[in-house]
Parts: sequence; C-alpha cells; structure tokens
Amino acid sequence: MDLKWLLVRRIAAVALACLLAGSLLALYQTARQAQQQNAELVDLVGKRLEHQLGRFDRMAEMPKSFPDWDPITSHSLQPGQCLELHGTHATSPRSRCAGVDASAMNTPVWFFQAYRSLISPYLAATRPIPYGAKSQGTIVATFDPKATAAKAWSTIAPLIGLSAVFVSALCFVAYIVIDRALRPAKEILSALNGLARGDLTCRLPAFRLTELNRISEVFNALSADLSRATAERAELARRLVDAQEQERRHIARELHDEIAQKLSALSAVAACVRTSARDAPDLVDETKELERMASDLMVSLRKTLTYLRPQVIDDLGLIQSLQSLVDEQNNGARGQTDYSMEVAGDVEQLGAETSAHVYRIVQEALNNASKHANARRVKVQLNQRPGPGQEMISLVVLDDGAGPADEPSHPTGSGIIGMRERVAALSGKLAAGPLPGGGFGLKVEFPTLRSGGGA
Ligand SMILES: Nc1ncnc2c1ncn2[C@@H]1O[C@H](COP(=O)(O)OP(=O)(O)OP(=O)(O)O)[C@@H](O)[C@H]1O
Ligand SMILES: [Mg+2]
Repeated sequence: MDLKWLLVRRIAAVALACLLAGSLLALYQTARQAQQQNAELVDLVGKRLEHQLGRFDRMAEMPKSFPDWDPITSHSLQPGQCLELHGTHATSPRSRCAGVDASAMNTPVWFFQAYRSLISPYLAATRPIPYGAKSQGTIVATFDPKATAAKAWSTIAPLIGLSAVFVSALCFVAYIVIDRALRPAKEILSALNGLARGDLTCRLPAFRLTELNRISEVFNALSADLSRATAERAELARRLVDAQEQERRHIARELHDEIAQKLSALSAVAACVRTSARDAPDLVDETKELERMASDLMVSLRKTLTYLRPQVIDDLGLIQSLQSLVDEQNNGARGQTDYSMEVAGDVEQLGAETSAHVYRIVQEALNNASKHANARRVKVQLNQRPGPGQEMISLVVLDDGAGPADEPSHPTGSGIIGMRERVAALSGKLAAGPLPGGGFGLKVEFPTLRSGGGA
C-alpha cells in the first residue's frame, strides 16, 4: 500500500478513536447528570414525605391524605422525569411525570434504541420512606428514555459534525504534508527502479534532510561503481571474445596456408603419378583414390575454415550470411524442421565485429535448436529499432520444440556462456530459457555503438 495513504488512514483512525472516546464521555456525563437529578429528586421528595409523616405522628392511623402528592412534586420535576411511590396504602395519586417537548426530539432511531437498551435502565433512583418501624413505601425517580436520549444526542451530534469536518481537514492537510515530505522517497524509489532495469546513469539529487542526503550520496557512489564495473566487464568480455576470434582467424590462416596448400600439392602429385603410370592400372586406381581423398579432405577443410572464420560476412554481408546459415540448417533438417528468418531495419550498417558476434550467436542458437529442440519451426528475428537515447538491435530465436531437458541451474555446455560473453562485449542483455507455451527462446538486445570496435 502507498505509504501516504497508510499514514493518512492511521491518522483518520486515531481521530475517529478520539471522536468515539469523546462521544462516550459526553454520553457518560449526560447519563450521570440524569442519574444525579433522579437521586436529588427522590431525596427531596423523600424528605418532604417524611415531613408530612412527622405531622401525622400523633394520629392513631395514617390519614387518607397521605401522600399529599401535588404540592411536593409540582415544581420539582425536570422535563421527561417521572416520580412514583410504590408500596403505600394511601389512595391518593402515586405517580407524576413531566412532559417533554416532542418537537425537539430528533434523535435517530438507532441511537434511541441503543440508548434505551444500554443506558436508560441504569438511570433510575430509589429511596425508601421510613415511618417508625414500618416503611411507608419507596419512591422511584426515572427519566423517559426519549427525553434523555434526545438530550444525549443533542450533546453528541454537534461533536460528531465538528469532528467529521476536523478529521477531513486533518486528513487533507496530512496528505499534502506527507506527500511533500515523501517526495525524496519517490525520487529514491524511481532511481532504484531505474537501476534495477539496468539504467546505470540514474543519479539522485542532493536533499535537504541530512539522512536523505547521505542516502543520495551512497546511491550515487554505488551506481557510479556499478557503472564502472559493468563497463570494465564489457571491455574484458570484448577483449576475450576478440582474442578468441583472432585465435580462430590464426588457426584458419594456418590451416589454409599449410594444410590446404599441401592438400592441393598432394592432389597435383597424385594427378602426375596417375598420368605417368598409365601402364599400371592398379596404380592408376590408387592414385584416383588418393585424389578423391584429397578432394574430400579439402571440402571438410573448407567447412572448418568457414566455421572458424566466417569470410562469408565480408563477402555477402550479414543478412545473406545469416540466410546461408538458415539455408544450411534447412538442408540438414531434410524437411523435419522449418528454419526461417525475418529482418527489419538497417542491420547491414553494423560493424564487422558486431556482425561477427551476431553471426556466431545465431549459429550457436540454430545449432542448439537442431541438437536439443526437436522442433517443427525455428524462427530467427533480427530487428533494428529506436531505444532510449540510441538505436537498439534485437535478436530473437524461437522454436516450438520440447524445451530444455536439463535443470537450468546445471548447465553443461558452453554455447550459451559464449553467447553471454559476446553479448556482454556488445554491452547488451541476453535472456534464454523455456517459453511459457512450450519451446525455447533466446532474446538478445544491444545498442548499436558507432565508435571503436562497435557498429
Ligand atoms: N533450442 C533449445 N531447445 C531446448 N533446449 C535448449 C535449446 N538451446 C539450449 N538448450 C538447453 O540449454 C543447454 C545449454 O546450451 P549450450 O548451448 O550452452 O550447451 P550445449 O548445446 O549442450 O553444448 P555446447 O553448445 O557447448 O556444445 C543445453 O544443454 C540444452 O539443455
Ligand atoms: Mg550449444
């Protein structure tokens, strides 16, 4: 959850808890006031009734006029308050209630119901009326729940209204303040996300708060270190791959200059021997065999030379060389697998070394597809497209085969490792693995550098 909203929700929760506590306190105070009024009333009326009884003290029996209710109760009752006398033998009126102003009662039903069941029963006050050894009854004072609930509601309602306004204003102000306070956090987060995406140019500005400023300094230092280390690694990989290529070229040259020349010489000698030995048919056959072997060896040697040094890129260009790789695979597959290629954008402008890397990567990917995939279709896609700040080359090789048999954590071969080294030398990214719908996918992306050993 967003930190801003989390804090605003916490503040709103605390404010609402305060409102609840305030409302409960107000409720408690109104209930207590009503209880006190009942207690005072029974005390007052009780004393007056005792006084009346004092005046009857010398009479033989209780006069019919007890209790003389009206003068005692007429001015003492609060609106909604009721007074009752229980347990007396007198016939005079024994209860009295003061009316309430019905128009002033706008208590919500839910509040009234809750108040009547939870609070009203505890507001009554009682007092016995002692007379000699006997009791002349008990006075009970109560409040009409409608009256006390209305009074409590009239105390709480403005509190609730005020609190609603206050809580809304507080949340709004808190949101603005927190938003401003967290602005550096947003910048830090976006820089971290940038770094996670591989953008090593991300840097943080200086912040006013010392702690945040320290974060910014450390982040910038780490990001600069990472950027340097990545550049060094790419340079190292480039040198490694270049050294590999140079070694291959050297071996190819040696093979060409030494073995190929000697094979040609061998073939020529065999032809001479054949011409000179016309009278010895056995020898003629053997020299023919020798010539055939030399010619086969020459074909194999040419294949090895092409593998070691793809001269074909210099002669035909990258797209044609890749197409010839695809064609070779189609020929070898004899219709079992359909290899195809799509190219978009100007990829011929890539430099010789970059083209050689692309060629090698596609060569390994196609070899892998034919070795491991058992696929019906293998597709190579090579695109040039605009990227952030520079043009990007994207190379994708997809197949619909069985996917890798090994655990990806235990790779055995060195083909994908070699591809990674080449991609690192191109300052790019490589992803290889099984596809969600089955098959295997390889995706390589790198920027088209226009200086040094790049494009
Ligand atoms: N197209 C593919 N389909 C299925 N699995 C693949 C595919 N490409 C690679 N793999 C899996 O990835 C592993 C690593 O491939 P990698 O090219 O590095 O090694 P290799 O082909 O086994 O050996 P090497 O390339 O060194 O001759 C393979 O062993 C294979 O399990
Ligand atoms: Mg391989």
